[in-house]
Order: sequence, then C-alpha cells, then structure tokens
Amino acid sequence: MKTEAILPYELALPARVIFEEGASKRLLAEAAAFGSRGVLAHSRSAEKSGALARILENKPHSLNVLCWRYRGGEPRLTDVEELRRVAFDFKANWLAGLGGGSVLDTAKAAAGLLTSDRPVVEYHDGTSLPQSAAPFLAVPTTAGTGSEATSVCVLTNPHTGVKKSFRHPSLFAKLVILDSLLLQTCPPSVLAASGMDALTQAIESFTSKYATWLSDQLASKAVELIASSLQPAYESPNTTHLKSLLTGSFLAGVALSHARLGVVHGLAHPLGARYGVPHGLACSVCLPHAIEFNRPAIGSKYETLCDLVGSDLLFFVEQLTLRLGIRSPFSGVPLRERDTIIEETLASGSTKANPRPVARDDVVWFLERIFNTDASQEQQTGR
Ligand SMILES: [Fe+2]
Repeated sequence: MKTEAILPYELALPARVIFEEGASKRLLAEAAAFGSRGVLAHSRSAEKSGALARILENKPHSLNVLCWRYRGGEPRLTDVEELRRVAFDFKANWLAGLGGGSVLDTAKAAAGLLTSDRPVVEYHDGTSLPQSAAPFLAVPTTAGTGSEATSVCVLTNPHTGVKKSFRHPSLFAKLVILDSLLLQTCPPSVLAASGMDALTQAIESFTSKYATWLSDQLASKAVELIASSLQPAYESPNTTHLKSLLTGSFLAGVALSHARLGVVHGLAHPLGARYGVPHGLACSVCLPHAIEFNRPAIGSKYETLCDLVGSDLLFFVEQLTLRLGIRSPFSGVPLRERDTIIEETLASGSTKANPRPVARDDVVWFLERIFNTDASQEQQTGR
C-alpha cells in the first residue's frame, strides 16, 4: 500500500490551539473574546477533580458563564437538545466543552445547532447542517477521541439505538486548549480505554484508503507517541507521558479528520450503541481482528507500524490490551440484533475508508471473533 496524494482535497483545522501545561486556567479569559455570555459544558469528573473550580476562579468579572454538567455515558441526541435549549435560553454567545469526547461532541453539536429550530434528529438522519451558530471552544480532559481536532460529532439516537456522526466545516473549534495537567486525575480505566481509541484512530487513519502524505506524517507520529506513552501513563501518570499521550491523541484527531478511519470504527459504533459499551473499549476489542484482516492489504505500511511501536504490531496491541487490564465485554455474550449490526457496519463511512473492502461475510467473520461464537445467524437468548 502506497500513499500517493500529498494533501487532502480540503485541509481544515481548529482556528487556534494552545498547548501548554496549566493553560486551561485561561479558558474564560480567552472565551471573553467571543462574547460576554457563554455556557461551559463539563463532565462530572472535571468538577470532582477541581479543574472546573480552577477555571471559574479565573473568570473575568465581566463574563457571564453558565455551567452545565453532562450526565455521563455516550452522547445522545437528547443531550444535544437539552444543552442547546439551555444555551439558547441563556442567550449564550459561545459554548465550551471541558471533558472527554462525549462532552466535547455534545457541546460542539449544540454550538453548531444553537439557533436552528429543527430537531437534532433531522441532522442525524442526513439533513445538511447549517453554518455553525456559535463558537465552540474545546478543553479535553482525556486523550482519546480527538474530538477537539475535528468537525465531527458522534451521537446516538436513544430511540433507534443508531450511533453515527455528522459534520460540518464550521464546527471546528475556534480555540483548543491542550493542558496535559488535566489528565492527571483521569481514572486509569478511562485513560486506558480512551488511549486505545486514540491508538486505533492513529492506525486506522494511517492505513485508510484516503490517507495522504500529510495525514501519514500526523498519524505515524501519533502511533509512535501513543504506543510509547499509554502503558507508562496508565501505570504512573507523569507529565512527560501524559503530554505525549495528549499530543498523540490530538495528532490522530487531525489525521482522521482528513483521512477518515476504518472497519474498527465501522464496528465499534453499532456494537457500542447496542451493548452500552464505551467507545474506547469497543475499539480495543475490534482492533486486533482488524489488524489481522487488513494486513494483506496494507503492504509495507505494516512494517512501518511495527517499527513505530517497536515490535510486531498485532503482538504489541494484544499485549498492550492485556497490560491495560482491558477485558472484552462481548466475549461469550449472545449476539443480538445481528443483522442491524451488520447493516450499520457496512453503511458506515469508516468501513468505506478501510484499506481492504469489507463485505457482509467479512462482518460475520468479525462478529464471530468478537463474540467468540457462531455469528452465521441471530442468537435468540438475549440478555
Ligand atoms: Fe474513535
């Protein structure tokens, strides 16, 4: 497999990125440039860790800020509806997200659709998004989804269980603050699962059929940084490792934003939504099978990836998963909604970017591996 294009057909990035330890304290001083009223969406853990308090302590007096606590779990359309109603009623000029990918995706979507009178579900179902209504500011507290680097929002429809993304070039953050100190209080299990998401995104964007020279530079550096820092950061979260992890996650986000992903994300979205499994965990379980499946299609890129991680890629990923204490939530569990999962995997834009074409039988092969079971037909004994 050889990357031929130098640049993607369109290059789009967040407007401004601050990469500095402790810089999150300046969030509200920076936000004041976007208007005197704003909503700060945050995770429960950002409140518990004291990160939110430190940001509010440094609020300029002239600024009116409403804090909105995210309920937790994977982001749903109803979360976006609620946040945009809160922000609209508050007459917010801007929205900021302080948290993991779920908080950032929710705040990004709510900022984009702040003044739209259409239900969010219409956009999730395919209606083109309007120009973003309000500036979005991103402060990630985990290193994983790379949401701060993209114009993508991954959301689940709670009524149908469908998890998919929408995007618009105007959804890019106007300001990103990458403050590795915020990762110090990230629980190890969250650090592990989100780090595996970042590693998956780096590998998938490096091997995507839409990869370019530019995305290869970003993705390969991301693989190197994440592979060398994830386990050490999980075992002992020192600043050097957390900084590498956050940098790698951001670079992977920029890479996927231009090269897209692969079949791991095609599978992880329906599996995560149908089984209530966190995204990073679903990615971790699918990644080794995708490496095995894609290996014949990626040629010398496999060797490059081995060089970047310092050993055979498949062996490295399997060992890393074990050392991070990640256990499959699918193994031995009855396979439910098989046909829906297959259809959603095949329809996914990520699956379409996979370096090796993915057919229906291939998805069955993946499901058999993931569930350790015969996936040739639906299993009736659901949970
Ligand atoms: Fe992901």
